Amino acid sequence: MNLELRAVSKKYSDHDVNALREVSLHFSSGDFVAVCGPSGCGKSTLLNIVGLMDKPTMGTVIFGDDDITSLADEKLTRLRGERIGFVFQFFNLLSTMTVEENVALPLEIQGRAKPQEIKSRVSNILERVGMSHRVGFYPSQLSGGEMQRTAIARAVIHKPKIVVADEPTGNLDSENGNLVLELLKQLNQAEGQTIIMATHSLEAASYASRRIDMRDGKVLSEAR
Ligand SMILES: Nc1ncnc2c1ncn2[C@@H]1O[C@H](COP(=O)(O)OP(=O)(O)OP(=O)(O)O)[C@@H](O)[C@H]1O
Ligand SMILES: [Mg+2]
Repeated sequence: MNLELRAVSKKYSDHDVNALREVSLHFSSGDFVAVCGPSGCGKSTLLNIVGLMDKPTMGTVIFGDDDITSLADEKLTRLRGERIGFVFQFFNLLSTMTVEENVALPLEIQGRAKPQEIKSRVSNILERVGMSHRVGFYPSQLSGGEMQRTAIARAVIHKPKIVVADEPTGNLDSENGNLVLELLKQLNQAEGQTIIMATHSLEAASYASRRIDMRDGKVLSEAR
């Protein structure tokens, strides 16, 4: 899965903020990338663009064979649903749905798999993230670490090419944070998914195989 940013800039016009300034990056299948840098340097803005949630104001984004900057919103939404999985700092589980229902959601939205298949895939992935004992629980009945493991199961159930994780450990203690990072690393190694993770934490970044440091909307340095 080829993902490339060519001289991508993002300006938030309402307050005239240049959040990204001519960023060029290439991501390959199986990369586990940590995007680091101080608050406000543009990490989430970058992740929103690689996650097809937002378009750049200038520059080009190549996703597979498509130039996404010229795609219609409808096609972009479909691509996002099929090829991207998201993990957020505050988990973003739906509070009125159980663990099982939350995790099934991406497959329900795609509408291709039969109920029986959905059930078995959900049960497999919950097993892998160690949540089989909590299938019928609601998010408010889970610990933070359990919520994030559920969110990871939801992010990967539809086998996306790219998993975008914005501060996935930002709201967890270090023990649960390490569990979540270990899980992301296992999925990356087993499935060859590209993981792009924003983080403030050097410890979290150490799980990645590649690190990008940003300052003020630009890439400052890169290391493997
Ligand atoms: N919708 C918006 N409108 C105007 N400015 C914005 C908007 N979203 C973000 N910004 C600004 O763009 C800059 C980059 O924001 P971004 O959220 O990408 O930073 P970040 O590196 O993720 O920070 P943090 O580590 O605090 O999450 C910030 O200065 C922010 O204030
Ligand atoms: Mg951010």
